[in-house]
Amino acid sequence: MTPHARVPVPAVPPGTADDGFTALVAKITAETSFGCSSYKERCLRRRIAVRMRARSAESYPAYAQVLDSDTGEYLRLLDALTVNVTRFFRDRVTFDLMAAQVIPALWQRGATRVWSAGTASGEEAYSVAALFHQHAHARGEEEALARVRITGTDIDRASLDAAHRACYALHAFAEMPPELLDPLFPALGESRGVSPALRAMVRFERGDLLRDPPPAAGFDLIVCRNVIIYLGQAAQEELLLRFHRALAPGGFLVLGRVETVLGAPRRLFAPVSTRERVYRRVA
Ligand SMILES: C[S@@+](CC[C@H](N)C(=O)[O-])C[C@H]1O[C@@H](n2cnc3c(N)ncnc32)[C@H](O)[C@@H]1O
Repeated sequence: MTPHARVPVPAVPPGTADDGFTALVAKITAETSFGCSSYKERCLRRRIAVRMRARSAESYPAYAQVLDSDTGEYLRLLDALTVNVTRFFRDRVTFDLMAAQVIPALWQRGATRVWSAGTASGEEAYSVAALFHQHAHARGEEEALARVRITGTDIDRASLDAAHRACYALHAFAEMPPELLDPLFPALGESRGVSPALRAMVRFERGDLLRDPPPAAGFDLIVCRNVIIYLGQAAQEELLLRFHRALAPGGFLVLGRVETVLGAPRRLFAPVSTRERVYRRVA
């Protein structure tokens, strides 16, 4: 991060017209690789407010001064801007639908590439690996798991470090089907790890969904949940077009309950489940 001149904006309370928010966001964008303009303003304000409270900054210009005097604050701010909450089998119904309809269809396709986009600390990627393992085990075809490659990507390095460590607190497994727990996620005292069979299927890398190329081409399944909800409409559409290009023909896109395909990308995806927001690439 380069030293930055102080932002000369009036110190009026957040939420007031000309409260210095625009100047602060321009500063953050200039100093970091985080594309603030793609995110919904109210989300940005909420997340920045977390750091302002932590640093007792009562206005955006005051917080800009904190950033000027302590560049380490940029890292803490980026950590706050990326909401990293996740867990295994989050919103379990979506995973049940994947187990019933998506995994069996992919299993017949042979070599399978999966992208967990915005994977946070890896629980989503390992959950998808567990679905494939369950399917293979039921058919006595575990050796065929070698053809499944799952890539988890995220913009947040600390989350990816946790994904690589693959050691999770017990509450992260609250929605996990109990029969998968002991065989695939061995107990490690007060936490659980991830079995070598699953780890062999999953790799992680850093990537910005809005700026970097996808980690590969021709994905059979892209899972991107609880990510696009934070983006503005234009960025959402751009990301869906990116996913369309990254999918193989007939490939699945799983967004989960809180997100949906809107705008121009609608014609590119056919719904498999409108409720769980599961789609297939049609064009
Ligand atoms: C709420 S978590 C969702 C994790 C998981 N997909 C789930 O549903 O449980 C959102 C994740 O998206 C990541 N993220 C946000 N913007 C991103 C971007 N532009 N590129 C890559 N990852 C991003 C955040 O770092 C965070 O880890």
